This record gives sequence, C-alpha cells and structure tokens, in this order.
Amino acid sequence: MPHPLFRRKNLDAILKEAEEPDRQLKRALGAFDVIMLGIGAIIGSGIFATIGTAVAGDAMRAGAGPAIVLSFILTAVACAFCGLCYAEFASLVPISGSAYTYSYATLGELVAWVIGWDLIIEYAVGNVAVAIAWAAYFHQLCVGLGFHIPAWLAVDYRSAHQAADAVIQSGQTDPAVVLAHEAWIAHPVVAGVPLIFNALAVLIVMLITWLLVIGVKESARANNVMVAIKLIILCFFIYSGAKFVKPANWSPFMPNGFHGVWVGASLIFFAYIGFDAISTAAEECRKPSRDLPIGIIGSLLVCTVIYVGVALVLTGMVPWNHLGVADPLAAAFAYVGADVSAGIVAFGAVVSMSAVLLVFQYGQPRIFFSMSRDGLLPRHFASVHPKYRTPHVTTIWTGVVVAAVSAIANINEIVELTNIGTLFAFILVCAGVIVLRHREPGRKRAFRTPFVPLIPVLGILSCIYLMMGLPGVTWLRFGVWLIIGMVIYFAYGYRKSRLRGA
Ligand code: ALA
Repeated sequence: MPHPLFRRKNLDAILKEAEEPDRQLKRALGAFDVIMLGIGAIIGSGIFATIGTAVAGDAMRAGAGPAIVLSFILTAVACAFCGLCYAEFASLVPISGSAYTYSYATLGELVAWVIGWDLIIEYAVGNVAVAIAWAAYFHQLCVGLGFHIPAWLAVDYRSAHQAADAVIQSGQTDPAVVLAHEAWIAHPVVAGVPLIFNALAVLIVMLITWLLVIGVKESARANNVMVAIKLIILCFFIYSGAKFVKPANWSPFMPNGFHGVWVGASLIFFAYIGFDAISTAAEECRKPSRDLPIGIIGSLLVCTVIYVGVALVLTGMVPWNHLGVADPLAAAFAYVGADVSAGIVAFGAVVSMSAVLLVFQYGQPRIFFSMSRDGLLPRHFASVHPKYRTPHVTTIWTGVVVAAVSAIANINEIVELTNIGTLFAFILVCAGVIVLRHREPGRKRAFRTPFVPLIPVLGILSCIYLMMGLPGVTWLRFGVWLIIGMVIYFAYGYRKSRLRGA
C-alpha cells in the first residue's frame, strides 16, 4: 500500500470512469479539428509580440538579434522531445485533464496535484498575457480604422504609471508605452480612485467564455476560421516582407553571442506553448489514439516552419535593435513605409490571439473538471451542462478569474511566469513516460515515443536549459506559487481525494 501522497489512479479505472454517462463530454472532434486546435493554441502573441523583446532584448536581458532563428529551432527541438512524450501519454490516457491525468496514473497524487496546480500557470496565467497583448493590438487596430477607444480602458494601472515619465524623458515611441502614457494623462477619477483598467482584455475573455459554454463544436468551428486567417496573414507577412529584406541586416548575426540565443529561446518558448493543450480535448475526440499524436506533432511542425520564415524576414527587414516594440511585425511594415500591410498584420494579430485565448480557455476548465472528478477540488466543478454537455461551471469560473486578472496585470512578468510553469510541467510529463514504460511495459500504446528513455531525458534536459535562461525573480514567483498550491492540497485535496481509503 503506497503512502497517501503517492497513491495512484489505476489506468483502467480512469478509462472506465470517463465512460460514466453523466460525466461524458460530446465526442465531436476529428484529426483535422485537433491540428487546427493546436495551431489555434500555438500561434499567437508569441510570434506577434514576444518576438520583439526576444530579438532586441531590453533593460533586463540581451537579445538574440537575427540569431533568433536559432532560438526558434532550439525551442522547437525541445518542444518536439516533449511533444513526442505528450503524444504517447495522450494516446495511452485519452482523458481530459492533460498532464495532470497522466501524472496521476504514473507519479502519484502529490505530483499530479503539483502538475495540475502548475498548469494553471500555463493556461490561465498564460491567457492573461495573451488577453493583454490582444487588447493592445485591438486598440491600435481601432485607432488605425478611425474608432476611438479611451486608452484608460486598454491598459493596466501599473503600466500607465510607469509610462508616465518614459515618453517624456526618453521620447519612447513604442505604441504600447505611448498608449499607457495616454491612459495616464487622460484617465477619469471616480470618488478619488483613478480609473485605469484593461476593459478590452476583460471583454474578449468574457466573449470567449460564453462561446465555450454554449458548446465545443461551435467553438471548434470558430477556431478553424481563425486559424485559417492567421496562417494566411503570416504567409502574407513572409511573402510581402521578403521584398524588403536587406541581407546586411542579418549581420552581425549573433550580436550578443550564444548567450543572447539562449535567453531569446527561453522567452520565445512562449510562442510554442499550446501544442500540449490539444491533449485536454481527448474526451471530445472521435478517435483520440489517432487524432492526438497527429494533432500534436502536426501542429508543432507547421508552426516551426512558419516561425523560422517569419523570423528570417523580420530580421532581414529591420535592424535587429529596432525591434524592441510591442507590435514588431506590424512595426516592420511601418518601418519600410508599407502602412496598409502593417494594418493587415495588426488585424491578423488580433485574430490569432483570439484563437489562442479560445484554446486555453477551453483547456483550463477541463483540467479543473478532472481534478474535481478526482475529489481534489469541490465536486460541484465537475458538473456538465445538461443541454450543451460542456463543463460550464469551471468554464465560467476560469473566465471570471482570467478576466479580472487581465484587467490589472502587467504582461512581461506574466509571460516569464507562464514559461517557467509550462517547462516544469513538460519535465514531469517526460519523466512520466519513462516511469510508466517501466511500470506497465505491456500496456497498449497507440503511439510510442521513439528511443525511450533517450527522448524523454533529452526533453527534460532541454526544458531545464530553457528554464535556466529565465530571471531569478521568475523562479521566486514560481516557487511561491508552488508553495500556495501545497497549502491548498494539504488543507483540502489530501483529505477529500476519491482515492482516500481506496
Ligand atoms: N503560444 C501562444 C502564444 O504565442 C501562447 O500566444
């Protein structure tokens, strides 16, 4: 009998439990929908926004320069190792809950809780970052189209406060800083309280929450349209931007040496997060053992090819140290005087980020749903809507919390926290593959990770390497988050677990 902290769910029991009629989600997704879901989660603010800081660096870090292409390849390789592990797990345990469920069956309850808690950082906290970037681009798009939305409804209070002097003192022209500055000088004050909050971010999160409550097939259809648009826009960027490439801009290729490439990789990792979110859709796939591995590896491949193309064109169009802005892709067209193209790209960014929000807002409730089904969170969270067959309680909770935090949070801190949390989850998944091969070698696996344990070990090492590229304060925040999780587990889940006494 294992110690309660290491009690494990029996895989057969997990599979059987998902068959309970009142707990069944609607199986509406095919392999194509799953690849689209993956691309929907992957391509977003990482390639449209974070790439700027990763190339040019900022006060806190060295940029990769044109060698960002190497950062992308490095990160893609790390993700591929982890993706292969995710695919084996997803085909073996095709249950909603992603890495959380896999680890419950392999590494025990404590690790499962840690990973479930950690995934909140990837999904919900990550979505806060995307919602904020969405709001900035959307605001700019509206300005470009001649609609006026007050700046104090599109930024958080802290950014506005910090930007107050930046514009005046250093003549900052980054649109995000200019917007924040505008908010600072023109905000209303109600009963002595300055009114500056990101209402646009709140609105988009609420809209997406509603879409997800009314049903997965409708949402998948909306996602397919958005994915098509973003692929077209990024191809448009590569095709139209290629005309403006000056090879001289690629030199020096590595202005900050390999250190810059490494730091750039640890940041641009954000652009790849999402392929793993596909695994949360397992219970809604028609044939999960086939659809999930195809979805994970397929979407990772498509995105890598596009990212490398975008990175080459971007750094060829504009000198690398001019790219430290909030909207680098649109700014690149503005730099070469192609304003209409800049507008088209800004539109693409808004659509792309909406798709990312959709997939992540889809994933988070399903993880809560699984945790609640296991008794680690209140049972009420596992209710399924009688008409729509969606986990509406957790969907609405996630929406409300993400919206509230996006109203006040600062994007840079959130991106780094998301990266460290996600890399940590990936490490546990890779470890889980090795453990389960050892423990249950005979179990049928529709997809087998090749060269075990080599690939999982390489996955673990590459994630640690990327984590080490993140600043100390991010490690600290992550540590605090894990401690809070532990307190909650021992106060609630440890006692209420369905496995208690089992
Ligand atoms: N990969 C997602 C994005 O870049 C999180 O927005």
